[in-house]
Amino acid sequence: MPADNFFEPISNNGNPPIYRYFNGASWVESKSGKRIAIHSPIDGSVVGELQSVTKEEIDEVIARSVEAQKKWEATPLNERVKIVHLAADWIIHYQDQLIDLLVREVGKPVGECKSEIKRTAEFTDYFADEVQSIRGETLESDNFPGYPKGKTAIVSRVAQGVVLAIAPFNYPVNLAGSKIAPALLMGNSVVFKPPTVGGISGLYLTRIFEKAGVPEGVITCVTGAGSDIGDYLVSHPKINMVAFTGSSDTGMAIAAKAPMKPLMFECGGNNAAIVFPDADMTLTAKEIIRGAFSFAGQRCTAIKYVMGFQSVLDKLLPVVTELMKTMIHMDDPRKEETKMVGPVISVAAAEGIERAINEAVSEGAKIAVGGHRKEAFVEPTILTGVKPTMRIVSTEVFGPVVSFITIDNMDDAAAIVNSQRFGLQACLFTTDEGTGMRYASLLNVGTVQVNSSPQRGPDHFPFLGVKQSGVGVQGGHYALEGMSRLKPIIINEPK
Ligand code: G3P
Repeated sequence: MPADNFFEPISNNGNPPIYRYFNGASWVESKSGKRIAIHSPIDGSVVGELQSVTKEEIDEVIARSVEAQKKWEATPLNERVKIVHLAADWIIHYQDQLIDLLVREVGKPVGECKSEIKRTAEFTDYFADEVQSIRGETLESDNFPGYPKGKTAIVSRVAQGVVLAIAPFNYPVNLAGSKIAPALLMGNSVVFKPPTVGGISGLYLTRIFEKAGVPEGVITCVTGAGSDIGDYLVSHPKINMVAFTGSSDTGMAIAAKAPMKPLMFECGGNNAAIVFPDADMTLTAKEIIRGAFSFAGQRCTAIKYVMGFQSVLDKLLPVVTELMKTMIHMDDPRKEETKMVGPVISVAAAEGIERAINEAVSEGAKIAVGGHRKEAFVEPTILTGVKPTMRIVSTEVFGPVVSFITIDNMDDAAAIVNSQRFGLQACLFTTDEGTGMRYASLLNVGTVQVNSSPQRGPDHFPFLGVKQSGVGVQGGHYALEGMSRLKPIIINEPK
């Protein structure tokens, strides 16, 4: 049972607290003397201050990480597994504290924060179980034309080395854990860069892994603005792999600065819902609401546009608007009765969403529902009469807005999806599974959901994006494989 002062070292415990960063050995303040105040999107109050680390401090952290990795990889897998399971236990043990912090730090409704924390513990356990079935293979030379027997390749999986894990604000615990746990299990050390807003939650998670027994230097956590330390981190020669979740623009900038490094990126999405005339309208409406408005639409898997014949959209829209009255309650995210929509991450982000709505309206779209903003709160909004070329569709507007687009034939929907720069997921609704299977094969996206909104889970399913939506595969054993590389040793029989 952990002691009550579990999280004490990570800040000065002031009001508001000044948080420290974790250099792998201890929790310390940066010599920079620079700090970043984290304001709650709920009311602008200061949740705490984060250190802005220097490049020298990053060098020191990475050097410790390099040094520690070799010993960690040599640690028996069953010991690494125990440590990661213990981290999962402690995530649950401290869930109330984590949930309170998360709600206040990123403004996510309390119900969704509960599921973020629970899911993090669950997949941490899952990874720790799954890693035990990851194994290599042996190959014999004579399977290939022209080769006699005599060469045996023993192909095993080894760690990538030092993995830089960069998490986003929308799941600062969950999308940090989904990188840290598989990386550690495969014998890597982790340099964790949490998001700026969400960074405090990231420090709490780091502390949990530290206290679970991850040895000195194997996990570190550096804080600071991406604009100050991002480039330095990703291009650092001692970083062997980058795992990142965030926007496509940032992902592409990172990829350009990390040549030849293995990447596991989940980037932007503007996921479509395609509604066939035979769809179950109630199920479709519920999934569209969940897909478009969960966590105020701040999910890369959120539905951003819905396509169908005019007659289908005419039937669907009233069902959606009716169900929104009970499925959504926009309010203070700390209240249990708030459902799906609290504030977006900042007033500036809310203003950007409002601008995108207004721009679509000026181009001919109509507001069917919502459309207003107050501070960081944006009403769940449905636009109709939207054209696929409008910016509200072609860019990722990270907020509670969904666009209805009328199509004249079903093939047009696939052409529209395939013309986008993103290719994360798409969903389609039909009561005919054969239609679902056939149509899914036309869509150039990472995953197609038939009769469900886009989503990452369950977390042992592969999760990936194509085009500018990402590279590499996350989820279950795919993530474990991605956090390792093949190492063939070829034994040649003496002639
Ligand atoms: O936005 C991040 C993405 O991973 C969403 O996950 O679980 O909400 O589909 P999920």
